[in-house]
Amino acid sequence: MSDEKNGPEPKGLARNAANYGDKEFALYLRRSFAKSMGYSAEALKRPVVGIVDTGSDLNNCHRTAPELIEAVKRGVLMAGGLPLAFPTISLCEPYLTPCSMHYRNLMALDTEAMIAAQPMDSVVLVGGCDKTVPAQLMAAASAGTPAVQLVVGPMSANRYQGERLAACTDCRRYWARYRAGDVTEERIQEIEGSLAVTAGTCGVMGTASTMACLTSTLGFMPLDAASIPAVHADRLRAAEEAGAQAVRLIHKPVRPDELITEKSVENALRVLLALGGSTNALVHLAAIAGRVGIQIDYRRLNVLSDTTPVLVDLKPTGEGYMEDFHTAGGMVALLHELRDLLHLDTKDLDGVSLGDRIGAGPRFVDRTYIKARNAPVSPVGGIVSLFGSLAPDGAILKRSAATESLFETEARCMVFDGVEDLAARIDSDDLDVTKDDIMILKGAGPLSTAGFPEAGYLPIPRKLARAGVKDMVRMSDCRMSGTAFGTVVLHISPEAEAGGPLALVKTGDRIRLSVKNRSLDLLVDEAELARRRAGWKAREAPKRGWDALVQREVLQAPQGADLRFLLPEGR
Ligand code: FES
Repeated sequence: MSDEKNGPEPKGLARNAANYGDKEFALYLRRSFAKSMGYSAEALKRPVVGIVDTGSDLNNCHRTAPELIEAVKRGVLMAGGLPLAFPTISLCEPYLTPCSMHYRNLMALDTEAMIAAQPMDSVVLVGGCDKTVPAQLMAAASAGTPAVQLVVGPMSANRYQGERLAACTDCRRYWARYRAGDVTEERIQEIEGSLAVTAGTCGVMGTASTMACLTSTLGFMPLDAASIPAVHADRLRAAEEAGAQAVRLIHKPVRPDELITEKSVENALRVLLALGGSTNALVHLAAIAGRVGIQIDYRRLNVLSDTTPVLVDLKPTGEGYMEDFHTAGGMVALLHELRDLLHLDTKDLDGVSLGDRIGAGPRFVDRTYIKARNAPVSPVGGIVSLFGSLAPDGAILKRSAATESLFETEARCMVFDGVEDLAARIDSDDLDVTKDDIMILKGAGPLSTAGFPEAGYLPIPRKLARAGVKDMVRMSDCRMSGTAFGTVVLHISPEAEAGGPLALVKTGDRIRLSVKNRSLDLLVDEAELARRRAGWKAREAPKRGWDALVQREVLQAPQGADLRFLLPEGR
């Protein structure tokens, strides 16, 4: 690109010069400072590949970031580029309060700004843990710089006393048994050290792995790179290839918005459904698509869900782990089964069509984990959206992780007003709840001080867990971990903090859930709701810092819970 007045757009280290009113001096200064790091003049003339470094002592999933970055650099250098790594915010689910989702948009903002402001011709995004890949793709889409996604890869499952364990479905399973009194204090402590024993993201089809699969479907990385285990040598080869790919992109640029299209987003939704993947991926995909002006239609999601089988049998809905998915044939095997449902003309970073990427499929498929179309895990997709008087703008249910006998439920509800209230009362022996009630958590959506946490998987009240209750209908305006399971309605929109109908629900009200009709209704008459609405008051908004900005700008779940001012101008 060039403009007539200023000549061709600068490349490499000359991009994005600091503005002192003297461009030549700015570049002279930059080269001089770069030379202080030992780079030769020849090296500094090369095209620059930025590498986003999200290694952090507070991100166990990204423990291998240093060696991955070294391999990316090798790939860049071999292809004739200059690799320059730089840090951004890194987010790992268990280490942040109120929750990591509260900072996804901050990471996206940081990453976009650093890609756009610093000198680089293309960028490799090294991410993996739940919120990092969405944040990086949102950033890349907005920055417009050609980008390659590299994920750290999933952890490997541990062998423990005759069973396999990996974060975090097994964490939840054991914790639920501990709460129910089935597992002793001593054993739960021993298991704590056995659940996550390698580097890498959670070892099941949770949010991180789901997002890796969707990202490869969108074309930002090779299909097999979605599932290579974190500690496998192939993961380093994938990193080297990401570096080489980034240099190819400099010679033949492809902007991120050329890959994020109506068709590729629909492909990604199909894959999400066929994986029985994480409900969080729906929020993240909406945010990524939103950055290029595409909105996901929850009603269209239901059409796709009814025509997309679940083909992958992994935890949390099935039995296997990500390492099984990889050796079973991975994404190529899955997409080959789905090929008649996909838009095969969408392209990857090399301009290769999805049809050609799938080709004749893999040489080997293990049907234990990746089912054939004529013998699916489920004939319909894993997620459905629900609409009704309780969720005028929609809610979702992961039916593949739910109990079918609870799909049609009309019952009295028991309400928790925020996560603190939940924590304070859930284990009380006096809690007014039975196994047939619907448990509601409100005040935990994107606008809440809780920051849209993964609290939708409300624990079964201790007294019911001890009586053997394994599942109940639970509903909220928050999210659920991709590694969790149960009959859990999520993302009720508008959320309670926005004054949606959920804000008006009281313990004792009746609610009707119908998966068959895709409906979710509050069975309280209008006059009573009007009376409650007149008495409802929004909480006082935070006044400073990130929390205040979120409060002012955050969108609801169906819009990806992005910040309004980060959408493309005009939306
Ligand atoms: Fe990082 Fe699960 S905590 S992927």
